[in-house]
Amino acid sequence: MTSSFLQTKKRGWGSRWSFVAATTGAAIGLGNVWKFSYLAGENGGSAFLLAYIACVFLVALPVMIAEVVLGCRGRANPVATIHNVAIEAVASPWWKLIAWLGMLAALLILSYYSVIAGWSLAYIEKLFTGEFDAASVQIAGESFSQFLSSPWQLIKWQSVFLALILLMSMSGARIGIAMMARIALPLLLLSLSALAVYGFKMGDGPAAIEFLFVPDFTQLTANSLLIALGHAFFSLSIGVGAMLVFGSYSPDGRSVSGMLSIVVLLDLLVSLLAGLAIFPLVFALKMAPAMGPGLMFIAMPYGFGNMEYGSYFGALFFLMVSVAAVTSGVALLEPTVNWLSERFGWWRAASAALLVFLVWVLGLLTALSFNIWADVSWQGLSLFQLLDFVTANLLLPIGGLLIAVFVGWKLRREVLRDEFYIEHPYLFLLWYRLLRYISAPAVLLILVSSLYLSFY
Ligand code: TRP
Repeated sequence: MTSSFLQTKKRGWGSRWSFVAATTGAAIGLGNVWKFSYLAGENGGSAFLLAYIACVFLVALPVMIAEVVLGCRGRANPVATIHNVAIEAVASPWWKLIAWLGMLAALLILSYYSVIAGWSLAYIEKLFTGEFDAASVQIAGESFSQFLSSPWQLIKWQSVFLALILLMSMSGARIGIAMMARIALPLLLLSLSALAVYGFKMGDGPAAIEFLFVPDFTQLTANSLLIALGHAFFSLSIGVGAMLVFGSYSPDGRSVSGMLSIVVLLDLLVSLLAGLAIFPLVFALKMAPAMGPGLMFIAMPYGFGNMEYGSYFGALFFLMVSVAAVTSGVALLEPTVNWLSERFGWWRAASAALLVFLVWVLGLLTALSFNIWADVSWQGLSLFQLLDFVTANLLLPIGGLLIAVFVGWKLRREVLRDEFYIEHPYLFLLWYRLLRYISAPAVLLILVSSLYLSFY
């Protein structure tokens, strides 16, 4: 037996709560705070939020359940799982392409994820040492651009982040990831709430509420719909095989849809709180909501720098964001580590080390795209933006679509019902129909129409 992520493959998760905690740990990360806020800012706030929520419940949650159910059925690494399940269903074994595509997407995501997570690590120190005490928003902005202009700073912190991932991944991470999620999540919620309360007191709360909750559908284009869809997959960690690996360790006799609904709600809660924390400051400071990836790294330090005990709260906040990023990063690496060690019998540590090195090299593209390679672009997208676009807006929806078609249309219904024996028949039917008739066609439609519109 391979030593694996959750170690106790035969027994599965100790309890339903360990499964929920670890899955939440994988789901909640930079996507909720950093990416959600700048995407909402760029895509018209409330209209984006509504599209995002619709995508989460109608499209992403059914696919997430399908991915976990695949893991439950296969109880092995992603490639072997899909291969075996396909054979059982008398379908082509080439469906295992889903697994390879997913592993590729996961490594590409981790390459830029590690750079941004490095920023978050760097900001723990910056806040703790009081760099932003009583800072103006200009100072916070200049400090951020100065930081980005130094390749060495970015590479240094990216390396620290990847070293942490490596350590955790090598040690088998089962207890680590669930425990870290249990500690970090409440603290992350606490520090986000503190910032939201501060934002409403000192910033422009009503403007933030209007921006986030009063929909203006003129802002919603086919492209922002694709971004909302891609972000639903990104934020819930679907489409790369990570949920499949988690499913392969899920406890028996528990309701998958029930457990995953909790994960989805927690994920949404953190994103909403992050929006409520950031946007009051953004509007009070007259920052442009659409300024892009720097939004959180300018608005948050400013906010913390100007509140009482803010340097401690701020350091704690960036620490929790970093911890959340570590648990997500380990989960991003897991499908491939799991596959390499099961398929080739490699030591887990060796697989993880090799992959982390590969990701580190790939990550240089992102780190340098903010400074010496800032001019390198394709269709107006920098290297970082290109990686983000290809993964979140192409590979994840394609992966999700393939999972929906494979599980919804290729597997026999009795087999699925068998995996779902604990769920109420109506709930099973609801999921099954959503997957077949809503998730799969919606992804296809959004993907094709937005690509068509952006290239023609
Ligand atoms: N959901 C993670 C976040 O919000 C990022 C992520 C995307 C991820 N795809 C993943 C994490 C797959 C684990 C596995 O930060």
